[in-house]
Amino acid sequence: MYISDLHENRNFYFKKGVVMAKNVIGRILSVLALFMGLVFSVGAAEQLAGTTLDNLQAAFNGESNAKVRYEAFAEKADAEGYKSVAKLYRATSKSEGIHAAKHAEMIKKAGAEPKATIEKADVKSTKENLEASIKGETYEKENMYPSFIKQAEVDKNSGAVMTFKGAMVCEVEHAKLYAQALKELDSWKDASKEFLVCQICGFTSMDKNLKQCPVCSAPRSKFDVIK
Ligand code: FE2
Ligand code: FE2
Ligand code: FE2
Repeated sequence: MYISDLHENRNFYFKKGVVMAKNVIGRILSVLALFMGLVFSVGAAEQLAGTTLDNLQAAFNGESNAKVRYEAFAEKADAEGYKSVAKLYRATSKSEGIHAAKHAEMIKKAGAEPKATIEKADVKSTKENLEASIKGETYEKENMYPSFIKQAEVDKNSGAVMTFKGAMVCEVEHAKLYAQALKELDSWKDASKEFLVCQICGFTSMDKNLKQCPVCSAPRSKFDVIK
């Protein structure tokens, strides 16, 4: 064998070694990335779930802010001439206040003080406010409350499970009412609509013939009428 052949062979095996090393490093990096991704996603899920007491505080904070935000949206709707939208927001504001009070009860039962940081409402046009409200309610009914309920079930905190579930059902109705208002926005300028709010659980409805609360079974006499 010639010396030049030897060189070529060495170069060949050297290059092959580099390619193999690159493949191995690539695989290690992808496994590492997968592992890190798993760690972060599990971390994010845990962060969302938290402890049931943390979740009660987060829900109390969310409901307290929603109450204030919807009052501000009601004023804006009034100013823009959407009288029935303003009434809807007054009804939902009352409902969110009931949810906040129910979460607060559970927080106190756990030996803690309810804490909320009230942020200034980001008030835009009524159309935009309705869109933002639908987003907020959808997040609560599809993400926040389902994860809080799961955690409360794991923690065997039946009181928290009940207060989370009660609020979640009401948020479903709120999202529907906002969607209807958005769809029929022009006709919600007149003040003819009335809203019922259950004083016990905050269930909100436009059904004038409602006899009993579908969430907590309270009789009609326990409903406030926003007109
Ligand atoms: Fe609520
Ligand atoms: Fe709501
Ligand atoms: Fe109710």
